[in-house]
Amino acid sequence: MVVGDFAVELDTVVIGAGPGGYVAAIRAAQLGQKVAIVEKEYFGGVCLNVGCIPSKALIQAGHVYHQSKHPETFGISTQGVEIDWEKTQDWKQNQVVAKMTSGVEMLLKKNKVEILKGEAFFSDKDTIRVVDGENAQTYTFKNAIVATGSRPIQIKGFEFGGRIIDSTGGLNLPEIPKDFVVIGGGIIGSELGSVYANLGSKVTILEGSKQFIPSFEKDMARLVEKDFKDKGATIVTNAMAKSAETKGDRVVVTYEHKGEEKTVEADYVMVTVGRRPNTDNCGLEQAGVELDERGLVKVDKQGRTSNPNIFAIGDIVPGAMLAHKASFEAKVAASAISGGKDEVDYKAMPSVCYTDPELASAGHTKETAKEAGLEVTVTKFPFGGNGRAVALDSYSGFVRLVTTKDDNVIVGAQVAGPSASDVLAEITLAIEAGMNAEDIALTVHAHPTLSEATMDAAEAALGLPIHM
Ligand code: FAD
Ligand code: NAI
Repeated sequence: MVVGDFAVELDTVVIGAGPGGYVAAIRAAQLGQKVAIVEKEYFGGVCLNVGCIPSKALIQAGHVYHQSKHPETFGISTQGVEIDWEKTQDWKQNQVVAKMTSGVEMLLKKNKVEILKGEAFFSDKDTIRVVDGENAQTYTFKNAIVATGSRPIQIKGFEFGGRIIDSTGGLNLPEIPKDFVVIGGGIIGSELGSVYANLGSKVTILEGSKQFIPSFEKDMARLVEKDFKDKGATIVTNAMAKSAETKGDRVVVTYEHKGEEKTVEADYVMVTVGRRPNTDNCGLEQAGVELDERGLVKVDKQGRTSNPNIFAIGDIVPGAMLAHKASFEAKVAASAISGGKDEVDYKAMPSVCYTDPELASAGHTKETAKEAGLEVTVTKFPFGGNGRAVALDSYSGFVRLVTTKDDNVIVGAQVAGPSASDVLAEITLAIEAGMNAEDIALTVHAHPTLSEATMDAAEAALGLPIHM
């Protein structure tokens, strides 16, 4: 503390205003805490500014463009379909992102959360210093919730800059590339790759492991791979990226595939090989907060760290790096600070990949159920048997239920297909509530809806299929 810098006392301070931090701050305030939130860059965090929301806006733009170009199935022909990319970017940034992020600031104010702009550093176990340009202020706190999020991993040979970009660069390209190379065929690579494949770029995805989108099951990823190929994209698995060299307005990527060195050229190369937690730059060690070997904060089931007055949530704690997981942990931590007994339970945590088709999963797969010692039955209902999907001309995929053998309890589901993210919601509730296949089969589902595929899968799980 410098001379004259008197520490200001705070009750609960939240660091980071992403889907973890802003939700924690609002919930803690609702539970009667006096709360301040510190944010150094943008309200809404990665998710609202350079993640979930802008990516979904571009995915939608890609769909509209692609469908406008190819409406033949419906007996429609179009001519002169064009995209004004500057206008698309302007809509994404100034209407979608701006609307959502200003909403976050408004919600914080409405809930009487004090907003502190600047970067927070822990100086000891109950003190932070907030630096905002030339200004700095010290604060002491009773409780802190750390939600500093994550940033893209940079790999050797692919230093970000110019035509070598990270996911943020991929969201803000100044033009639609003619050739676009993606390193890493995981969630971001496949989602943003699909944007540009729909917009007519020649996309090449180099995935280091043996499976494209390895966090989803093979039969699901294969559907997306086929769609990419139908749109002229190339997907190479077992392809380890080695280096990129910019030559004028092109970039040459070298990779290794089956022991051979190969190259591919593009206008831009986007590197999306995972994200690193922001735990190395805010003085956590000075606050007595322990990290694991991957740099993630060690927490208990309420998000409490090795310093009992400091909680950690979101991308900086173990588990999937997902916005809804961050918000869920936020509510648990806010409750714990207010004396609540809530604990995290990830058994029904959904995960979605917004590709064509969408992939969505919650709870157990057949494999993980087996590992957990559960005896399960797996039932798959294809969207080809669902009238709404056929009428949408979007019926590649299925609803798969994983149910216990003895009493049909739904312990997991995988959905691939149109609006899979929304179709999964009903099944997520079923898993969370411990419902069985009868509960879904006996629920009247409106006709014709995509969610009927879930009812059909449940009936099939009971051995009473009508539509298959
Ligand atoms: P963040 O959202 O990263 O927020 C952390 C905040 O803390 C930031 O605003 C940062 O500026 C601030 N901060 C950091 N350090 C300090 C400090 N010392 N002092 C003050 N402030 C600080 N997830 C999904 O569930 N669905 C999706 O569709 C999805 N799409 C994505 C698409 C892309 C392209 C990317 C990159 C990510 C996507 N994610 C998605 C992941 C999701 O964005 C993250 O899981 C989520 O944002 C994590 O929330 P968080 O609150 O932990 O951290
Ligand atoms: P990811 O872990 O999903 O995928 C990274 C991929 O890169 C992996 O498949 C990996 O095998 C591959 N890879 C690693 N090193 C490589 C190399 N040198 N050469 C070639 N391939 C290599 O990570 P990604 O896509 O960066 O996303 C980070 C996180 O962000 C995700 O795990 C997810 O939690 C979150 N996210 C969630 C979304 C959603 O919920 N829809 C959307 C986007 C991101």
